[in-house]
Amino acid sequence: MEINKIYNENCLDTMKRMPDNFIDLTVTSPPYDNLRDYNGYSFDFESIAKELYRVTKQGGVVVWVVNDSVVNKSETLTSFRQALFFKEIGFNVHDTMIYEKNGSALPDNTRYLQTFEYMFVISKGSPKTVNFIEDRKNRFPTRWGGGRKVREKNGKFTDRGKYEGKEFGRRFNIWRYNTGFGYTTKDEISFNHPAIFPEKLARDHIYSWSNEGDLVYDPFMGSGTTAKMAHLLKRNWIGSEISKEYVELAYKRLDPYLKQLTIF
Ligand SMILES: C[S@@+](CC[C@H](N)C(=O)[O-])C[C@H]1O[C@@H](n2cnc3c(N)ncnc32)[C@H](O)[C@@H]1O
Repeated sequence: MEINKIYNENCLDTMKRMPDNFIDLTVTSPPYDNLRDYNGYSFDFESIAKELYRVTKQGGVVVWVVNDSVVNKSETLTSFRQALFFKEIGFNVHDTMIYEKNGSALPDNTRYLQTFEYMFVISKGSPKTVNFIEDRKNRFPTRWGGGRKVREKNGKFTDRGKYEGKEFGRRFNIWRYNTGFGYTTKDEISFNHPAIFPEKLARDHIYSWSNEGDLVYDPFMGSGTTAKMAHLLKRNWIGSEISKEYVELAYKRLDPYLKQLTIF
């Protein structure tokens, strides 16, 4: 298979040509609950989930960014059904993370403003790569242990309060991103796609669950966000996108970046 390429086709067709245990990391946001039309394309979730299992390497990860819509006054819970299905076919649901936005579409007048989506981190066995982002300022960086005297098994007391903690610690699993024009991305052209996710979201997952040189897949490539961030983080990538219009958009967007090495 050619890598660093977006295949203009149904992702099931792309995956069919992949060997078993091929992909290190998938970062994607599927179309959900017919919320948007995407030029009329739909997808077969269960077949895609099974193919993702087959093509993911042992220890590989799938980040599945999804939400529910409200139908007949109830949330559909599509997101949870999908997470349960991933587990049924052999994946671990490693972490249910939240992508918090700083804005909301207006719900009906019986609901609070809806500001998040799920980021299910699904793994085939235990994740083989974990690079934690440590940018959360610790509240008590120099006295993490709190100065407590602790009785040890031998009956003596030791002081656990001397530990020199780090100034920054591992992130919590709710990630907040500014969204909207100029925030989700600065690439104006992307906004011709109706449902882009923040490029920092893609960047942070790619950094966390893969290493340089690994192969990152997005079966629903849309405007090319995953490809852009994988490329800038020196990962290889493959994408599928069923709409010709969005493939063209993605390549126009990617063009200036394909020469650049890193964003940090
Ligand atoms: C939520 S959007 C992804 C947006 C992307 N994360 C971005 O930042 O631009 C989902 C995309 O999946 C595409 N799509 C829908 N069904 C598909 C299928 N079976 N195979 C490949 N792409 C599909 C749609 O055309 C749409 O562009």
